[in-house]
Amino acid sequence: MRLGAGAAVVGAAAKITILEPRTLWASARPVPPSDTVRFGIIGTGVEGCSLLRASLPIAGVECEAAADLYDSRQIAAKEALGGKNVETSRDYRRILDRKDIDAVIVATPDHWHRRAVIEAAEAGKDVYCEKPMSHSVEDGLAMVEAIQKHKRMCTVGSQRVSSILYHKAKEIWDSGKLGMVDTIMAAWDRNTDSGAWVYPIPPDASEQTIDWNTWLGDAPKRPYDAIRFFRWRCYKDYGAGLAGDLFVHLLSGIHHVTGMNMPPQRALSTGGLYHYKDGREFPDLLWTMYDYPHFQVVLRCNHNNNDVGEFFGFYGKNGTLIIQGSTLRFKPQAPYEQPEDYSVFGWPVKLRDEYYADWYQRHPSTKPGEFKVQGEEEVFAPPPGYSDMTDHLANFFNSVRTRQPVIENEVFGHNAAIGCHMSNASYFTKKPAVWDASAKKIVTG
Ligand SMILES: NC(=O)c1ccc[n+]([C@@H]2O[C@H](COP(=O)([O-])OP(=O)(O)OC[C@H]3O[C@@H](n4cnc5c(N)ncnc54)[C@H](O)[C@@H]3O)[C@@H](O)[C@H]2O)c1
Repeated sequence: MRLGAGAAVVGAAAKITILEPRTLWASARPVPPSDTVRFGIIGTGVEGCSLLRASLPIAGVECEAAADLYDSRQIAAKEALGGKNVETSRDYRRILDRKDIDAVIVATPDHWHRRAVIEAAEAGKDVYCEKPMSHSVEDGLAMVEAIQKHKRMCTVGSQRVSSILYHKAKEIWDSGKLGMVDTIMAAWDRNTDSGAWVYPIPPDASEQTIDWNTWLGDAPKRPYDAIRFFRWRCYKDYGAGLAGDLFVHLLSGIHHVTGMNMPPQRALSTGGLYHYKDGREFPDLLWTMYDYPHFQVVLRCNHNNNDVGEFFGFYGKNGTLIIQGSTLRFKPQAPYEQPEDYSVFGWPVKLRDEYYADWYQRHPSTKPGEFKVQGEEEVFAPPPGYSDMTDHLANFFNSVRTRQPVIENEVFGHNAAIGCHMSNASYFTKKPAVWDASAKKIVTG
């Protein structure tokens, strides 16, 4: 990373350093067919189509096939690929059976991740699995086991882990200049129906165009319900609410920056359903406090006010690191190099004056009222149009090609997902949720 051409002055003081994008996905010359990674995709809804579009700039990768249970999404997949006429079907087994396909992306709702990932690993495919990796702790354990047993590359899709902004944050964290950090706060607040998953139902959606029974998978059988199909994040049988949708990004970002690749030790949640009383089974305001060995993490998501938006604050003795939207800011914190000026005002004037005289004699270089800040405020941003999703996919495809480790493997994804399941376990039981590492399960109470 270096100071880019777009460096600009904002306000009077803070200069923004535009981070140099990595070029993991670019190639100086055409990639020979023997090095081309061929992939298929399972689930081409909102995220699947986004991933396909984000894959287009990556040299040496070709999408060859797409599977989705809703016919219109097979059309959407081809459109996302710029009109490429890939093989499409409702049945993802057809992708897994193809010998010319190296890898698959799994972008189904959470309740299908386990089965699709395990079957892909068994079929010898490397897997990019969307976040949250698991729908339950048991699912995650089975997925980690299958990936490792079949020696597959697996990336979990929390793309911030590949972001140049979060890499800069990690560099600052690793430098130690924050000093001791005991608190990390993060939020992802929204104030739109779309942000609260109230997605419109397409007019052609029906039992004819959607394979509803297959979509239900291992979830309880029920009659066709378009609301559940399109707004599945609201229901426990398929998703994990705010924790699974948004906390997982916050936890993954925090785990990446701090290098803390483990489930939280304890979680305590509260919140409520205030706005979207539409039959959903999850709260629309969720707070969780987490214990980690060296610091506390406090997370919040709400659907009522988005003043804060997406936010991370790492609060250290010597500085604060803030990520808000696409800006990263390091603010050094002034060490208090002045005589005590609170309790001494309960002293007689004579004693106080003697204290001050003595203090300034022992600190000859400090003048009254002078605070020495160590270092300057630094602000960083990615260049316009930067896509962390393209970087994340490129990292995965490079690992498929080179067999070098991915940046966010199945263990990382499993640990972050456990944090989400702990949040929900505490919210619904109204008790602390503890991660029992030896029993590999969440205990509440
Ligand atoms: N990384 C991110 O920023 C991000 C953003 C949004 C969603 N996601 C994740 O991506 C996943 C998908 O979310 P979405 O919003 O795209 O959901 P979606 O409902 O829009 O799309 C999911 C698609 O999967 C298909 N599907 C389900 N089971 C299938 C099966 N067995 N075979 C073939 N197709 C199947 C459905 O028909 C549907 O079209 C979720 O895990 C979600 O958490 C990640």
